[in-house]
Amino acid sequence: MCPCQLLEHNVNTTRFSQLTDPAGQLSVTNPATQSVIGRARSYDGEAVSQAIDKAENARTGWAAKTARERASILLSWHNLILENVEDLAEIVTAECGKPLSEARGEIAYGASFIQWFAEEGKRAYGETIPTFAPDKRVLTIQQPIGTCAAITPWNFPVAMITRKVAPALAAGCAMLVKPAEATPLSALALEQLAHEAGVPHDVFRVMPTTDPEAIGDVFCNHPAIRKLSFTGSTNVGQILMAKAAKNVVKLSLELGGNAPFIVFGDADIDAAVEGAIASKFRNAGQTCICANRILVQDAVHDEFVERLTQRVKQLKVGPGSTEGVQIGPLINAKGIQKVSELVDDAVQSGAMIVTGGEIDEAGPLFYTPTVLTGVDASMAITQTEIFGPVAPIIRFKGEADAIRMANDTPFGLAAYFYTRDIGRVWRVMEGLEYGMVASNDGALSTEIAPFGGWKHSGIGREGSRHGLNEYLEIKYCLMGGVNK
Ligand code: SIN
Repeated sequence: MCPCQLLEHNVNTTRFSQLTDPAGQLSVTNPATQSVIGRARSYDGEAVSQAIDKAENARTGWAAKTARERASILLSWHNLILENVEDLAEIVTAECGKPLSEARGEIAYGASFIQWFAEEGKRAYGETIPTFAPDKRVLTIQQPIGTCAAITPWNFPVAMITRKVAPALAAGCAMLVKPAEATPLSALALEQLAHEAGVPHDVFRVMPTTDPEAIGDVFCNHPAIRKLSFTGSTNVGQILMAKAAKNVVKLSLELGGNAPFIVFGDADIDAAVEGAIASKFRNAGQTCICANRILVQDAVHDEFVERLTQRVKQLKVGPGSTEGVQIGPLINAKGIQKVSELVDDAVQSGAMIVTGGEIDEAGPLFYTPTVLTGVDASMAITQTEIFGPVAPIIRFKGEADAIRMANDTPFGLAAYFYTRDIGRVWRVMEGLEYGMVASNDGALSTEIAPFGGWKHSGIGREGSRHGLNEYLEIKYCLMGGVNK
């Protein structure tokens, strides 16, 4: 059955008619309706292992192409994605629930990584180094690391794949992806378009599974895998790190966050409210870089809470496929249970619900956008990645307190702050122990900048020229006997 019939969306029947497999063991559920929208084939460890062998054979031919030839194929892939943005967005919304407008944004964001790395692959320069002896010359070249694997999440089922696959392919590597169990169809659609664009079949494979642990083991233990990139929880990242140690597999880990969003007394409050809405409520709060704790200075606390609450009450909740909806469902029952428990625990510990604080009438997986005040650092909600549309507000007195509170976490992915004091911008920027810090802005994701965290939030960077380096090895070449 084609996805259009299954999804009850206008997905292009001819182009994506092969995405689903009626006999597949992996069933895909629309979180808005909780109905099964399709099935995907599930690959076991043996099948993935064989695909790795094939990728290992195919990668040398891919690496032998010039960077310009690879770029041309990658740009065709980029163009095909943009030509099919509506269908892809419908699939993303049906699989992970995010509003259609956000799904369209994700497709554009995902495609941007392919365009960026297609260009950047041409600049994988080596260097010449002033020699240490008259008859020797010293230089470096950069070469593809080899066959790579990626494990990707459900919250950005397109962009987190392209952010890993594009630099790998641009560098001349082969790549196998295990997409999240909840979102295999958008991943398979991406794979299909990549092959249509000219990426050789064995050089890029998407392999959904019902047994993620077994595939993770194959990725860590197969001798041909030289690099593993993972986006997901810190807990799973730590497990993969331990498993990858045996084969000394190079890792990129984009893990959990606990982003502080700080509003100083001298901030532009309107801008701070809009920034908080953008940062906190994107994808119903289900991103690693969503504001997780909103720290507001005493002097502007009440004004900020009032204005934020007005805006939060206006957010339209409903199925992502309904035009105009801004808050879709959470991904599954576990997600909604976690959010409900964190809010209940905060209230029992003294926090107050200003708005929301309940399962929404839109359905069992929808949570009403919530503002909590009277929150403090002892509550579980400030120490846990909420992954839901809940804004816990904490008061602070001075700049030093804000920086101390913001840094008081093992995580260090993204942080945001609002102030109009230029000196403070620099001091706070330097003081925050995070991989990404935004001042006076609530959205920092872009293909041109390095995305990644400090501390328990991960290792390595994605996007930007640093993202390409993750898929390249440096070779030091010594040329002796140069003198006659
Ligand atoms: C994430 O939540 O892991 C990614 C968010 C982004 O790229 O903006």
